[in-house]
Amino acid sequence: MAEEMRIVLRNLGKIDPLKLDEYIAAGGYKSLEKARSMDRKELIEEVKKSGLRGRGGAGFNCGMKWSFSYGIDSDQKYVICNADEGEPGTYKDRTIMENDPQSVLEGMAICGYAIGANKGYIYCRGEYPYVVEILNKAIAQAKDKGVLGDFDIEVRMGAGAYVCGEESALIESIEGNRGEPRFKPPFPPVKGLWQKPTIVNNVETFANIPVILEKGADWYAGIGASNYPGTKVVTLTGDVNNRTFFEVPTNTTIREVIYEFGGGIKGGKGFKAVQIGGTSGCFIPEANLDTSIDFDSMGKIGAALGSGAVFVMDESRNIVDVVERISKFFEHESCGKCTPCREGTKRMHEIMGRLNNGKGTANDVALLSKLGKVMSKACLCGLGQAAPAPVLTTIEHFKADYDAKLV
Ligand SMILES: Cc1cc2nc3c(=O)[nH]c(=O)nc-3n(C[C@H](O)[C@H](O)[C@H](O)COP(=O)(O)O)c2cc1C
Repeated sequence: MAEEMRIVLRNLGKIDPLKLDEYIAAGGYKSLEKARSMDRKELIEEVKKSGLRGRGGAGFNCGMKWSFSYGIDSDQKYVICNADEGEPGTYKDRTIMENDPQSVLEGMAICGYAIGANKGYIYCRGEYPYVVEILNKAIAQAKDKGVLGDFDIEVRMGAGAYVCGEESALIESIEGNRGEPRFKPPFPPVKGLWQKPTIVNNVETFANIPVILEKGADWYAGIGASNYPGTKVVTLTGDVNNRTFFEVPTNTTIREVIYEFGGGIKGGKGFKAVQIGGTSGCFIPEANLDTSIDFDSMGKIGAALGSGAVFVMDESRNIVDVVERISKFFEHESCGKCTPCREGTKRMHEIMGRLNNGKGTANDVALLSKLGKVMSKACLCGLGQAAPAPVLTTIEHFKADYDAKLV
């Protein structure tokens, strides 16, 4: 892993995550101190200038998001760390929180100071009880030592719904309601938790903040791809030799991820496809492997970086079979609030099942394409909008697998 560049994983293996003093000895909480000596507006400008974009999937400019809440006069504002990490194949946030929880708390406190919020929540995936324990211990230590000042942080646990990673469903869940997305606008920075200005950022986004303040926006902006600077923690799964995680500059190519970091395809087999960004990610063929993993370059080939999960498939995989399983996941996870997603994911799984069982026709493939296009436009939230991506991109790039199954 010689090519790795560790920013968010800078303390991994170097400090005991449950010893605040070790975090402080490694330079921890100096950035919060520095932030508090700065004018709030200047601080937000610095984060903006770094070019940091959200690492939770949507890639929105972090400083810009903070400026929306900063600009609103309100008696109460909130900071939420999205640690729901429900995307299959993704475990980057867990790795960060397990190994360096204080860096996330420090990033949240800096955001709190910047926007004028004194309350933060970490919404952690319910399947991570061990992480919740670490976070609670880290928060207790930070409070005891007084490093967070008047910024309070509490942990809330999710109950296992994928949709609760979507920021407005997450907010509903913290409020004690059913985890269903809200109609937007208004967006959370304007009206979020209990209708108050709320910044929701991903774990990895927050973990970047202390380093940006320590080393400066210009330093950060010079790393990786200029339109999506910094590093990305990638979790690699599937038919590769090294199924592991690593942190790389964002101008690293997909080919480098698979063949250099992943050690190539397992068992000496040929490459067939790679799905990037988790279950709702697009399927990418060999011809596009030299694309860099940054947000915009991925967009140009019709794909998305998403959470940074990379799932590699060798030549023996049947794409229709893989996509049928994925469509079952979405049928199960649709919250049912909007009709295009509730009905669309069900029909999509039904048609995929027919095709995979050798009972589908060319008309079914055409129907799938039409259904997918409608869903990507008509669904209320990103779950339903992105659910058709695996279907549509495999029909585009791996049509032969579908044709081979037709009656
Ligand atoms: C179905 C769905 C699931 C999501 N899951 C997560 C998640 O687990 N973690 C996360 O940070 N963002 C997730 N997001 C994105 C969030 O809505 C939001 O964009 C993100 O938390 C903002 O933080 P960022 O700007 O730092 O990326 C999800 C979005 C959708 C539509």
